[in-house]
Amino acid sequence: VEHTLSLGGKRIRPVLMLMAYNLYREDVASIYEPAAAIEVYHNHTLLHDDLMDRSDMRRGKPTVHKVWNDNTAVLSGDAMLILAFRYMTACPAEHLKEVMDLFSLTMLEICEGQQLDMEFESRGDVTEDEYIEMIRLKTAVLLAGSLKNLYKFGMQIGVAFQLQDDLLDVYGDPEVFGKKIGGDILCNKKTYMLIKALDRADAKQREELNRWLDAETCQPAEKIKAVTELYNQLDIRSVCENKMRGYYTLAMESLAAVGVAEERKKELKNLVKLLMYREM
Ligand code: IPE
Ligand code: IPE
Ligand code: MG
Ligand code: MG
Ligand code: MG
Repeated sequence: VEHTLSLGGKRIRPVLMLMAYNLYREDVASIYEPAAAIEVYHNHTLLHDDLMDRSDMRRGKPTVHKVWNDNTAVLSGDAMLILAFRYMTACPAEHLKEVMDLFSLTMLEICEGQQLDMEFESRGDVTEDEYIEMIRLKTAVLLAGSLKNLYKFGMQIGVAFQLQDDLLDVYGDPEVFGKKIGGDILCNKKTYMLIKALDRADAKQREELNRWLDAETCQPAEKIKAVTELYNQLDIRSVCENKMRGYYTLAMESLAAVGVAEERKKELKNLVKLLMYREM
């Protein structure tokens, strides 16, 4: 638990929660515990996610199941889930029921999203809509839940956030990104990029892409290189960036509709802009 939490990460969810709260009120210290709960819960999902995705690296360091073993990752992940409950229940008492209802719903949705993510690995006919629904569940609901009153805004930046994570998994700099590049390609993750590549490919390109998707044994580095090359030919990077920008615009419209003085929204707007152009 210490290993994971001391590696930092962007801490984006608690920061979003504090900023959203600060749109309305100044006493942000009164929600430090629920904000910590969100981050500890997020780290719980990462430990289990790295097991499911067989990922060796996170935040520039070997993952828990690499340093120790699978069982340690399961158990310390569980411990973080329990710690998250402890912190979350320290929220202001009058909101406890409402907070726990949203928190437990969010956690169940994430389980559902993660299960879909894995099932999609072995399916060849995942549609764009199915992908968006999957990332809404596995990623966006937690950002949205952190933002409460700004739930819709959170959902939209959450979808954009996962699109960027999928993009960085192919085009990121491993030194900055902190994870291995190409992990999603190796797992046959049905990312927006892969779905669009299958969509846009001509017969020959589609055959090549499918050959890599069906390859039972292959050199990982070769597969990553070949699939990335096909993405490049099909200009998938800009297709994905356009989709992200679409969600970013929607999010800004949702934020504009929130009945708080524009001046108070400045920091939140800046942060979201930084997130969209992030490299980690
Ligand atoms: C990683 O989340 C998992 C996704 C939902 C993409 P972050 O990109 O927020 O990871 P850290 O906490 O900053 O390391
Ligand atoms: C993140 O999906 C979803 C959750 C952790 C719930 P990814 O599998 O893309 O996250 P990374 O890339 O491993 O951080
Ligand atoms: Mg993963
Ligand atoms: Mg995953
Ligand atoms: Mg990823």
